[in-house]
Amino acid sequence: MRLFISVVLAITGSVLAKDADCHFKLKESVALPRGWVKHGLPPADHNINLRIGLPQPNFKLLEQHLYEVSDPFHERYGQHLSKEEVEALVAPHQESLDSVDKWLASFGIGEGDAQRSPAKDWVKLRVPVALAEKMLNTTYYVWKHLESGDYLVRTTSYSLPVDVHAHVDVVQPTTMFGRFKGSKSTVVSIGDAPDAPKISTSTIDIGNGIMVDPSCNTTITVTCLEQLYNATSFQRQGKGTIGITGYLEQNANIQDLETFFAEQRPDAVGSNFTFISVAGGINNQSLAAAGDEANLDVQFAFGISHPVPATFYSTAGRPPFIPDVNTPTDTNEPYSDWLDFVLSHPNPPSAISTSYGDDEQTVPESFAKKACQGFAQLGARGVSLMFSSGDGGVGDNDPNPATQTCFTNDGRNVTRFIPGFPASCPFVTAVGGTTNVPEVAVSRFFSGGGFSDYFERPAYQDKVVQNYLNALPKGTYEGLFNPNGRAFPDVSAQSDRYRIWVGGRAILIGGTSASSPAFTGFVALLNDARLQKGLPPLGFLNPLFYSQAAGAFNDITVGHNSGCGTTGFNATKGWDPVTGLGTPNFGKLVAVVTAGKH
Ligand SMILES: *[C@@H]1O[C@H](CO)[C@@H](O)[C@H](O)[C@H]1NC(C)=O
Ligand SMILES: *[C@@H]1O[C@H](CO)[C@@H](O)[C@H](O)[C@H]1NC(C)=O
Ligand SMILES: *[C@@H]1O[C@H](CO)[C@@H](O)[C@H](O)[C@H]1NC(C)=O
Ligand SMILES: *[C@@H]1O[C@H](CO)[C@@H](O)[C@H](O)[C@H]1NC(C)=O
Ligand SMILES: *[C@@H]1O[C@H](CO)[C@@H](O)[C@H](O)[C@H]1NC(C)=O
Ligand SMILES: *[C@@H]1O[C@H](CO)[C@@H](O)[C@H](O)[C@H]1NC(C)=O
Ligand SMILES: *[C@@H]1O[C@H](CO)[C@@H](O)[C@H](O)[C@H]1NC(C)=O
Repeated sequence: MRLFISVVLAITGSVLAKDADCHFKLKESVALPRGWVKHGLPPADHNINLRIGLPQPNFKLLEQHLYEVSDPFHERYGQHLSKEEVEALVAPHQESLDSVDKWLASFGIGEGDAQRSPAKDWVKLRVPVALAEKMLNTTYYVWKHLESGDYLVRTTSYSLPVDVHAHVDVVQPTTMFGRFKGSKSTVVSIGDAPDAPKISTSTIDIGNGIMVDPSCNTTITVTCLEQLYNATSFQRQGKGTIGITGYLEQNANIQDLETFFAEQRPDAVGSNFTFISVAGGINNQSLAAAGDEANLDVQFAFGISHPVPATFYSTAGRPPFIPDVNTPTDTNEPYSDWLDFVLSHPNPPSAISTSYGDDEQTVPESFAKKACQGFAQLGARGVSLMFSSGDGGVGDNDPNPATQTCFTNDGRNVTRFIPGFPASCPFVTAVGGTTNVPEVAVSRFFSGGGFSDYFERPAYQDKVVQNYLNALPKGTYEGLFNPNGRAFPDVSAQSDRYRIWVGGRAILIGGTSASSPAFTGFVALLNDARLQKGLPPLGFLNPLFYSQAAGAFNDITVGHNSGCGTTGFNATKGWDPVTGLGTPNFGKLVAVVTAGKH
């Protein structure tokens, strides 16, 4: 990206001010999310990596293609779109491109000063905060997050000139206070785990002839998941690809991975993953810098899917803004940096897991919708996207009952369940959490689940969600959730007491941060099975899961997801907002996904 130096500001700042000042119209205004306080003004030469999202007038058409190629009963099933076809479908109107160009040019910003996404639906440019303030008729402040001590440079509202207003969907970072935490909760306080579980001669018979080692009731290993999910007899050929995303300076350590393989996946010892740096992300191999989240994700996803070729992305992110130091750092928003990167890639991995998310309400609706449309593009291209459903039950993504909060940020400050994003996007597969053998939902504050306040319920889940709602006693949690919203999670998997290696030590760890990569490992193997038969990879999974494959999940019917001072929702027969359709019966899923001719 080209530098956009502050000299430009000196030339143009005054030209614009009197010309356009009276033509601004408010674009977005948000109430300050709880937990943040105003700290002061950023230095004028602080840089912002501004991204401007243009409307996608044909998104409905893209969505139609997505559903056709993802519906196992449709003749186009599996006929995923090419990168170019998708880009043509999300391209903005020429009028919008011209209008935005003219607006930028009025600040002296020329063609060479901005970067554009391949579909031209995003314009990115680096500007000093003072210029961004003029462009958006706003004032940026430094805000401090009281609990974590993080600082962000943001504003609570911004405007656009009237003639550009309809040609822009969203400008960020402006009102985005989301922090995209990892959905990890340390179950055994980080410390050495007990010795590796001994393989017993006895087994737990969980019915239908599935035998699980008793140690799996207290420690989850790759073998446990293969036994529990009926995957022990699969003949793998390593076809297809799998990816894990990393943020927040989480490093995936290769030495730890090898130790883990030696213990739990001996045939994978010596194998490795491809590391891809996004926007300058690094993967520091010092053992002291090994990240628990990144190590958990790569060890289980790649341990299950081996020998499927694996990729780990590290996206540099949100450099910590240090308000009292005189060297201005950039403000950016790493999550969409990854999305841009992977969308611009001709061959992204066909199954990708992300264990980072945040409360839906801290992500402005305009941004959430735009990011969700990006996920739809990947789905149309044949990529399956898994996201952790969150670890705070029906409450915010905070598994600690003492600090969890369940109030709206919309200025009304009323009590409400807090869904998580991106799990709430209808174009991704949200993975919840279970525990124990036989499996139950984790009944303390845990498996994130509920109903989106931003996205409507998609047709593919209409029937099962309506069944669930019909069975709720009348008036249950009235006003606390949006019964018409996209409901999640879609599926679940074990999520507690995973044994992993971090910095040379074995620890036990849990969270839906564990279930999402584990589930994704199995999705990669399903793709392997399809590719072995000459079939295309699965792509967007939900239309398949909620229809033809619904019977290939182990229905979880015990437990609930507490939060917000309630016991949350109950796991029930059929789909529920705690464990979704249930945990995978891999053997049955293979049969379903390889049965058809497409
Ligand atoms: C621009 O912002 C200033 C300061 O907040 C405000 O007084 C003015 O009304 C805004 N202009 C428009 C056109 O909204
Ligand atoms: C697994 O652990 C749970 C919780 O401690 C217990 O209720 C259950 O009986 C155990 N399962 C078996 C098969 O022992
Ligand atoms: C694994 O891959 C990385 C690059 O992605 C490379 O630097 C490293 O040497 C490899 N490690 C092993 C053990 O093969
Ligand atoms: C890698 O991590 C180690 C340990 O935290 C640290 O000392 C070192 O400076 C880091 N290296 C880089 C290039 O960031
Ligand atoms: C919101 O309401 C809760 C409970 O009534 C109260 O504790 C909190 O201080 C309020 N917060 C704001 C920002 O008004
Ligand atoms: C969950 O089940 C318990 C026990 O049957 C019941 O009392 C409670 O009302 C149920 N809660 C919901 C939200 O369905
Ligand atoms: C496990 O998977 C196999 C196929 O690999 C299938 O034949 C069998 O029915 C499955 N077992 C159960 C209990 O579902």
